[in-house]
Amino acid sequence: MPFTGAAQQGREAGCGKNSDFAGRLLGWYDRHRRRLPWRAEPDEAPNPYHVWLSEIMLQQTTVVTVGPYFRDFIARWPTVAALAAADRDDVLARWAGLGYYARARNLHAAARIVAADHGGRFPRDVAALQELPGIGPYTAAAIAAIAFDAPVAAVDGNVERVLARHRALETPPARAKAEFRRIAQSLVPDKRAGDFAQAMMDLGATVCTPRGPNCRSCPVAEDCRAYAEGAPESYPRKEKKAERPTRYGTAYWLEADGKVLLRRRPDNGLLGGMLEVPSSPWTEGADGGADGFPLAGELAGDEWRATDGGVSHVFTHFRLELQVMTARLSACQDIADGIWAPIGELDELALPSVMRKIVRHALASFDAD
Ligand code: ADE
Repeated sequence: MPFTGAAQQGREAGCGKNSDFAGRLLGWYDRHRRRLPWRAEPDEAPNPYHVWLSEIMLQQTTVVTVGPYFRDFIARWPTVAALAAADRDDVLARWAGLGYYARARNLHAAARIVAADHGGRFPRDVAALQELPGIGPYTAAAIAAIAFDAPVAAVDGNVERVLARHRALETPPARAKAEFRRIAQSLVPDKRAGDFAQAMMDLGATVCTPRGPNCRSCPVAEDCRAYAEGAPESYPRKEKKAERPTRYGTAYWLEADGKVLLRRRPDNGLLGGMLEVPSSPWTEGADGGADGFPLAGELAGDEWRATDGGVSHVFTHFRLELQVMTARLSACQDIADGIWAPIGELDELALPSVMRKIVRHALASFDAD
């Protein structure tokens, strides 16, 4: 008996089976809505100041963390005019712990604008809300819907997940923002748009969760394609990770007088400004070998010996396979840009991990000789 509880309730409430997504969701919300400190009770009008303050606090922060901060702010500054009149440093101090301080600076700046330019009343439409500091498209839509019942969809990651599953959307949300917004907007009811926005949030947070969704309690499971496929968690589809190409090169470990030749990498680029064991350029396809590092021949000619095996290292954008050649000179030579570093003190130098691997590999190959 897969459809129980809310789904059944929705049908009994007379909602159309496959079409009335909003009706079923709102029926469920009326029974299961979360009570949150900033949320108006069913018989109350929403307070735009509370809605705005909570939406700013909830950017990048969880509902549980925000609760005490929200209560503290509205106790201390009960209106937007009071917040506008507050000392900015006090606002920043009360924000401490919520992080991302630009949000607190924008909050205070927006409060001043609302107080000074809008007579202490928040603008009602999405475009005007977005003019205020700290309010982007999502936050503007959430405020317009929740505070003023504007029929707009507020699409965040939770809502994207609900939609991706309900429609079994194959494109990862990041590549189909406009499509997700269009679908979300098509579901917004003419009435109770604010409750609809909050119902989508609650559904994403409590039922259609990233892992282990509770489809049996879901009011829209009945026509959820991901549920029908039996794999709701496999949506939203993830961006395929780009294949990492492999680059090849040869590192030259040159010893003299208990020292090894290092050089400093150019400031710009990968491992910029860090010390390295000199090597040929790291290229895809074949390794340029000594051709890519002519100094090798000048320094030690036929003395170079190939070590067994090599060094592998994974960078973000490529995998590196290095052959390691070793040679010993009878004395250190002056080499432009070269640094002769005592081998016994290499641990104290700031060598990047790939270079430490080369050091270990070269020293082990001498031990094996
Ligand atoms: N996340 C973003 N806005 C929210 C809200 N108003 N209620 C619960 N969670 C949210």
